[in-house]
Parts: sequence; C-alpha cells; structure tokens
Amino acid sequence: MTIIAPSILASDFSRLGEEARAVEAAGADWLHVDVMDGHFVPNITIGPDVVRALKPHVSIPFDVHLMVAPVDPYLEAFREAGADILSVHPEAGPHLNRTLKRIRELGAKAGVVFNPSTSPDVIEYMMDDVDLVLVMTVNPGFGGQSFITSQLKKIERLRAMIDASGKDIILEVDGGVTAITAPQCIAAGATALVAGSAVFKGGPDAYAGNIAALRG
Ligand code: DX5
Ligand code: ZN
Repeated sequence: MTIIAPSILASDFSRLGEEARAVEAAGADWLHVDVMDGHFVPNITIGPDVVRALKPHVSIPFDVHLMVAPVDPYLEAFREAGADILSVHPEAGPHLNRTLKRIRELGAKAGVVFNPSTSPDVIEYMMDDVDLVLVMTVNPGFGGQSFITSQLKKIERLRAMIDASGKDIILEVDGGVTAITAPQCIAAGATALVAGSAVFKGGPDAYAGNIAALRG
C-alpha cells in the first residue's frame, strides 16, 4: 500500500497541532514537514522548535524535508526535535555521502531529494547509504504548484536503480500530487506520496476522503 505523507505546509499554521492530529485520524501514514531557509529556496517556513512542539500530537513518523543550505549544521537539531526521516538535497552541501552517514549515525533514516533538474546518477554509488529517495515534481519552495510531467521518467529510472540494487529503498514523490497525478506516480514506481493542497483542501471533514482518493 502506498505511503501517504500530508505536507503540513498546506495546513492552517495557526492550528498546527490540531491539523496534524486530524490528518493522522484521517489515515495519513507519515507527516511531511517542509523546512525552507529563504536562501536555498525562496521561502521561509519552520524550524526545529516547531517540529518539537508538534511531535507529541501524533504518533506517525515525521518525514522532514530539509530545503536548507548548508544543511549539515542543522541535522542534529531536527533529529533531536523528533525527525524520523531526514531528507537532503545534494546541492545543499559539499559531501553528500558524509551527510547521509551522519543522518544514520543520528538514528534517522536518510533521504536524498532530486530537484527537477537533478540527475539520478548522483546516488549511483550510494545505494548502500540511502533509505529513501524523493523526486520533486515541482521546483521546491512553495505548495500548490503544477506537477512537472517530465519527472515521471526519473521516477521510472530510480525504480529500476532501486530494483537492481536489491535494497529496500522507499521511492517518494513530492509536488503537485493529486488524485489525477498520484496513479501516474504509482505506475512509474513510487511507493510514497507527499501531498499538501490535495490533502488539506476542504477542511478537516474532507481529509479522509482526500487521502483515500490519493491511494486510488
Ligand atoms: C515544495 C514542498 C512540497 C509541497 C507540496 O517545496 O516540498 O512538500 O508542500 O505541496 P503540494 O502538494 O500542494 O504541491
Ligand atoms: Zn516537501
């Protein structure tokens, strides 16, 4: 069954705890947390203190997407705050392999995020050090953007790389995921889907239906 990870970026920030509880009750598997620094991406969102405050509200894993450069100085703070998965962009530091090893040392699962222009080759020799790969199907920085169809080929390519490796690596997709694009991602080989607008539209009464619609 596909993992559904609602992005709290699309929730009501004045009621974050309630929103997190509502998506968990509606069937969310993970909570996706978009961390933006106003430098690596042109938007600023939340830091470790917000993750720490949210953590006791739900029991599902925290899938923390770091759009921060340099990223290394912040890994420990997010792990201590409660991140279960820490995903980094290869462009956010000089030594991706060292960063991935550090994430595992901290006891979290290590993810690599691919911008629409980033090649899957980046992880060709790193399959042993990765627990998750995250394909961006929008340019990172904002919710509510349209799905970039060219990335379906990248999902297929990463699916083939993961299968050839024989490793149990999660293939996640993030950006513009809707009831229309979700089946395309799953057909291309995705095993986890992030969705902001498509989950939070319509308010709490709609969350369970919205999540079910993404599972297909
Ligand atoms: C974009 C973020 C996404 C975003 C997805 O930089 O990484 O997680 O919140 O939002 P939707 O689903 O609305 O495209
Ligand atoms: Zn994200």
